[in-house]
Formats: sequence, C-alpha cells, structure tokens
Amino acid sequence: MILSAGVLPLLLAATALATQQPAPAPPDRVAPVARRIAATAELAAQEYRIGVVDGRVVAKGEVEEAALFLQEARRSIALLPHDVGRPAGSDIDAMLRMVANTAPPDSLDARVRSLSGGLAERLGITLDELPAQTPSLARGAEVYQANCAGCHGAVGRGDGPEAAGLDPPPATLADGAALGGVSPLDYFRRISIGTAGTAMPAFEGRLPAEDRWAVALYASVLRLPAPRGEVPSSLRSFATTGTMTDDAVLHAVGVSDPSAPGALGRVAAVRTFHAEAGAASAEVFAEVRRQLDSAFVLARVGAPGGGACGTRRGGGPGWAGGWGAHGRSTRT
Ligand code: HEC
Repeated sequence: MILSAGVLPLLLAATALATQQPAPAPPDRVAPVARRIAATAELAAQEYRIGVVDGRVVAKGEVEEAALFLQEARRSIALLPHDVGRPAGSDIDAMLRMVANTAPPDSLDARVRSLSGGLAERLGITLDELPAQTPSLARGAEVYQANCAGCHGAVGRGDGPEAAGLDPPPATLADGAALGGVSPLDYFRRISIGTAGTAMPAFEGRLPAEDRWAVALYASVLRLPAPRGEVPSSLRSFATTGTMTDDAVLHAVGVSDPSAPGALGRVAAVRTFHAEAGAASAEVFAEVRRQLDSAFVLARVGAPGGGACGTRRGGGPGWAGGWGAHGRSTRT
C-alpha cells in the first residue's frame, strides 16, 4: 500500500503516542513496578546527597545521575493504575524540580518517603521484600564471578579486565574503610537497577531476585575480614540485618569504634550468620571464605590508614555516607 503524504505523519504520531503512554501493567506486575519506582527514587536521593552539600553542587555527575534516575522512575509511572500513578507522578515531578533548583537533600529524602509510603499504602504492599533466610554466600560468589568480576575485579578492587577505559571506573567494593554506611539492601537495589549513564548494568531482568540477593550479600562482605565473635539473637535474622549498614550493626553490638580490633569481624559474623545454610556444602563455603580472606588482605594492603568507618553522616541514607567517601571524586 502506498501511503499518501498526509497519512504517514498521522500514523507516526499515533505510534509515538502509543509508546509514550504504555498501558498500566497487569495486576500481578504492579507490585514489582512500584518497588522499582520506589528503589529508583531512593537511589536518586542517595546520589543527590553526595552531589549537593550546603546548598552547593559539589559533584555534578552525581546530581545528573539523580536526575536520570528520577526520569527513569517517571517513565515507569505510566505502568501503574492511574489513581496510584497520579500522586506518585507528582512526587517525582516535585523531586525533579528540587534537583533542578539545588534544593536541600533532606527535602528530597522527605519526598521519597512520601512517594514510597503512598505507593505502599495505595497498593497495600510492602516495598522492600527481604528474604527471610540469609542468602547463600556460595551462590553469591558464583554469581559475582560470572557477572561482576569482569568489571569490579576478582576480589572487588575495581580492576577487572573490562574495567579499562570505563568512565566512571567500576567502584571498588573491597574498601573496608569507606563503606560503613551501606547495607545489603542498598547493594540489592543498586544491582537490580544499575546506574544510569554509567557502565553499571541493571540486573533486574537478567538475574532472579534470589541471585541478586546472594550477590548483594557477597558484595557486602567483600570488604570485611573473617567472621569473629558472637552474634546476638536480635541480629540473627536477615530480614532485620539486611537493611542495616555496617555502622548500624556495630552500634547494635555495642562497638563504637569501627577501627577497634575485631570490630569488623563482628560485622562479618552478623552478615554471614546462617549464610551457608541451604545450597552450599561446607567445602564450597570454605572456598568462599578463603576468597574473602584474601580479598580482605588485598584490600588492606591497598588501603593505607583505614578505620574511617565512623565518617558516616548521621540521619541520611546509609549509601551516601558510604560511597561519598571513596573513589568517585574524579567525577565533578
Ligand atoms: C560492565 C561493567 C560492570 C559490570 C558487569 C558490573 N558493574 Fe557494578 N559498576 C560499574 C561501574 C562503572 C560503576 C560505577 C558507577 C558510578 O560511578 O556511579 C559500578 C557501580 C557499582 C556499585 C555502586 C557503587 C557506586 O559507587 O555507586 C555496586 C554496588 C556495584 N557496581 C556492584 C556490582 C555487582 C554486584 C555486579 C554484578 C552483579 C556489577 N556491579 C556488575 C560497572 C560494572
């Protein structure tokens, strides 16, 4: 069929309209979409907190990333039922304006809470679904070697064969001093959603949630020494500790100085409590331990000074306190 000059633009316009406004997702897909929107907005707020200090943009790259995350979240709003999407959309629009106007990071955090609370309440769901069982570290190690080591390096030093030439470079995951403010949930979100505008891929569509949790836990112990000491009964459930930063775990076991001897070993003991249950045989777990031990030794060799876990700024999301301190200062 030959299209007359007048029909083609109309058709194109109709197609464009259709792609701009996808239909709401089927009911069983709505909760995952809502979780993704909330997590993406949370990541945006965490990036923004690194990028804006005392009313000034101190890291332009982070502020741009925050805007990219928010735009991504904004696009997904169309997948929600309209009565849920409308208020969520205005929360995100407000956040985009805040970023454009260099508003205080706290105001963005408040809006993220309003967004997440609204989504959870209107849909009657919980947004952060933590596994009840501690994920398998052995599985985490496998997933890490297959999907992450190429960029982040075999033991998390950011020096994998695919890292050369990447700008920004892959983050160092083995730096015990800098990452006290990051929780396994923060890792899970980052791994699921990736980082817009960088080489960090989104693994949500590539790895099942179980594998993403396993590698999130594995990545969060790469920076820790071998486990040491008792795990109090209040810290034996992953559903509790998975949302806690290393600093929060230390606080909960009554250690105020992260550089005290054995302090990070306590954190490792909490993180890996029951982590070997299920899939892994004792042998596999011992191998993981060996890798982790050598990762720690290497990290220590490469990280003079150390002991700066206490630099976390109180109150804000843990992630920003953790990442803000390491390796990303080249991006302004
Ligand atoms: C193609 C390369 C590549 C692969 C594969 C990759 N990453 Fe990344 N990753 C990056 C880059 C680049 C960054 C830095 C992004 C930035 O500076 O914001 C990053 C950032 C991160 C961060 C956040 C740190 C930060 O500073 O924001 C985490 C956590 C992370 N990656 C974990 C993983 C895990 C776990 C895997 C495997 C499941 C993985 N990455 C796979 C390249 C990669």
